[in-house]
Amino acid sequence: MIHANEDYLKLPGSYLFSTIAKKVAAFTEANPDKKIIRLGIGDVTQPLCPAVIEAIHKATDEMADGATFRGYAPDLGYEFLRTTIAEKVFRPLGTDIAADEIFVSDGAKSDSANIQEIFTHDTKIAVCDPVYPVYVDTNVMAGRTGTYDETTGLWSNVIYMPCTAANGYSPELPKEVPDLIYLCFPNNPTGATVTKAQLQDWVDYANKNHAVIVYDAAYEAYISEEGVPHSIFECEGARTCAIELRSFSKNAGFTGTRLGYTVIPKDLVDADGVSLHSLWARRHGTKFNGAPYIIQRAGEAVYSEEGQRQTKEQIAYYMKNAKVIYDGLKAAGYTVSGGVNAPYIWLQVPQGMTSWDFFDYLLEKANVVGTPGSGFGPSGEGYFRLTAFGTYENSVEAMERIKAL
Ligand code: MLT
Repeated sequence: MIHANEDYLKLPGSYLFSTIAKKVAAFTEANPDKKIIRLGIGDVTQPLCPAVIEAIHKATDEMADGATFRGYAPDLGYEFLRTTIAEKVFRPLGTDIAADEIFVSDGAKSDSANIQEIFTHDTKIAVCDPVYPVYVDTNVMAGRTGTYDETTGLWSNVIYMPCTAANGYSPELPKEVPDLIYLCFPNNPTGATVTKAQLQDWVDYANKNHAVIVYDAAYEAYISEEGVPHSIFECEGARTCAIELRSFSKNAGFTGTRLGYTVIPKDLVDADGVSLHSLWARRHGTKFNGAPYIIQRAGEAVYSEEGQRQTKEQIAYYMKNAKVIYDGLKAAGYTVSGGVNAPYIWLQVPQGMTSWDFFDYLLEKANVVGTPGSGFGPSGEGYFRLTAFGTYENSVEAMERIKAL
C-alpha cells in the first residue's frame, strides 16, 4: 500500500508565496475594478536586456541548424559559461574559484532546496530568523527538523538565529554548534548585510567546528556600499567550509528564464574527508539534465560589456524604486530598514497588528500586496516586506496610497 511522505504533511498546505497568490486572487475576484499593486514576491518587471535577447536569438538560430544544433546540455554546465563565471565574477573579487567548481543549474531556488540532500539525516541546521522559507521547508520535507510548536512557530530540531532590530538583523554565532548553517546576504527578507569582518567570523566559526555554510548570494548585485562582501569566498578559509548559491534571476531578470549556479570548492570535505564537490556532481548528474543551451548563452551574455552595462541599469532602476519605497514609508511614519544594498524594504507594522493583519489591511485599504514578516519565521512577526522589483510608477503610486491611509 502506498503512503505519502509524512514529513511533507507537517508543512502548511501551500508555500508562502502560493498562499499569498491565492489570497490576492480571491481579493481580485471579489473586487475586479480595483488596481492591485504587487510588491509581494520578489519577481522582476523589467524585460531582459538587449544583449541577453540577442544571445537568445542567436542561440535559437543555432538550434535550428543541423550543424550547430545541441541536444542534452552537459549536466554540470557548458564550459563557456562556467569559464565566463570564474573569470568575470570570481576573479575580479580576488578569489580563486575555478570553472570546474561551478555547477550550472536552473536557479538558486532549487539548489538551495536540494543542497541538503548530500548531508546525513541527522544533520543539524541553523537558520536566520526570519529566513527564506525554502531552507526550512526542504529540511522539514527531509524529516530533519523535529516537531513543530504551534505557539512559538519553531521546529524543535532547528537552531534559530534571531535577526532583529536589536542586532541590526545580523545573526550571532550560535552557542549550540550546527552542522549546516544557512546564511543569505544581502538578506532576504530583511535587506540587511554583513561586513567582510563579520562574514570572516562565520567562516572561522565553521572551520573551527567542522560545519558547512550554505551562503546564498542571490542579491549580491544590489550591494552599493563598500566593505560589504559579494562572495563568501572573499573570506580567508572559505574554501574549506562554504558552498555559495548564485542566481541570474535578480541580477539579470531571469526569473522566468531560469538560470543559476552553485559553487562547491574542491577543498570542501566532510568530517571523514568525503568530497562534497564529488557528491554534488553525482547528485546533479543523476537528477538534473542541464540548463538549456539557449539560456546558458543568455547567461554568458550577461557578462559581456554590453550585458554588464545594461543589467547595471536594471539594478539601478530597481534601487531607485527601493529609495522611493524606503523614503515613502519613512514619510508615512514607519520604522524602515533594508533597501540600500538589497531590493527588499523591511518595515515594522503598526502597533497592535500582526504581520498578516497588516497584509489584509494593506490589500483592502491600499490594494497593495506585500509579504507578512511572520511568513519568514517567528522573529518576522510584527514586520512586513515590500519589494523594489515593481515598476517605478507602481512603486510611487503604492507609496502615495500608503501615505494616504
Ligand atoms: C522572494 O520573493 O522571496 C523570492 O523572489 C522568492 C524566490 O526567489 O524564490
